[in-house]
Amino acid sequence: MGSQWGYDKAYMRAKHEGYRSRAAYKLMEIQKKFDIIRRNDNIVDLGAAPGSWLQVLRTLTDARVVGIDLNPIAHLDGVETLEGDLNDKEILEQVRSMLGIVNVVVCDAAPKLSGHKSYDQARIIELNEQALAFACNVLKHGGNFVVKSFQGTDFPELYADTKQHFHAVKTLSTKSSRKGSTELYIIAKNFVD
Ligand SMILES: C[S@@+](CC[C@H](N)C(=O)[O-])C[C@H]1O[C@@H](n2cnc3c(N)ncnc32)[C@H](O)[C@@H]1O
Repeated sequence: MGSQWGYDKAYMRAKHEGYRSRAAYKLMEIQKKFDIIRRNDNIVDLGAAPGSWLQVLRTLTDARVVGIDLNPIAHLDGVETLEGDLNDKEILEQVRSMLGIVNVVVCDAAPKLSGHKSYDQARIIELNEQALAFACNVLKHGGNFVVKSFQGTDFPELYADTKQHFHAVKTLSTKSSRKGSTELYIIAKNFVD
């Protein structure tokens, strides 16, 4: 996406290939490395707007794909969307009644940043913990979870919390993340309920 960093290669590639954002390549890299999604998986994408992950997810499964965001998500064939907060109990209930079984939860959500580093870091980890709680509430035994986070003082606690619920937990700094970014993804496989 265009930004203070300018229109980088990944942005141009995404535009050319019809993806709604450059973030699409991060999910492709995660899938290639960790094989988190199988063809029959029902998937929930938290913080899904504008929808490039949804575009990728639609190609990875033949089952259902549901995207949730505070902002509306423009229509995508074969994708269901909900407008709301991932932390809202009603959204959680809606997902449960729509899908029944949820095999994978992915979360690329990011809060609006204030520019105050420690406040922003705490807010991101809080959102990550909410996504983890959402995943633990809906996932089927053995399901997988991916969440975008950032390195910082509170990160080890989030990582430890995730490890309590999944058999295998790893991190990945994707090649498509911006240079110098502290962004990293937690990849958690095999949910233990
Ligand atoms: C980086 S964008 C996601 C990009 C998306 N993965 C894609 O590929 O198009 C982060 C999104 O997280 C959403 N978000 C932030 N907090 C949220 C919350 N509490 N509930 C739902 N969505 C949230 C924002 O509205 C924003 O659209």
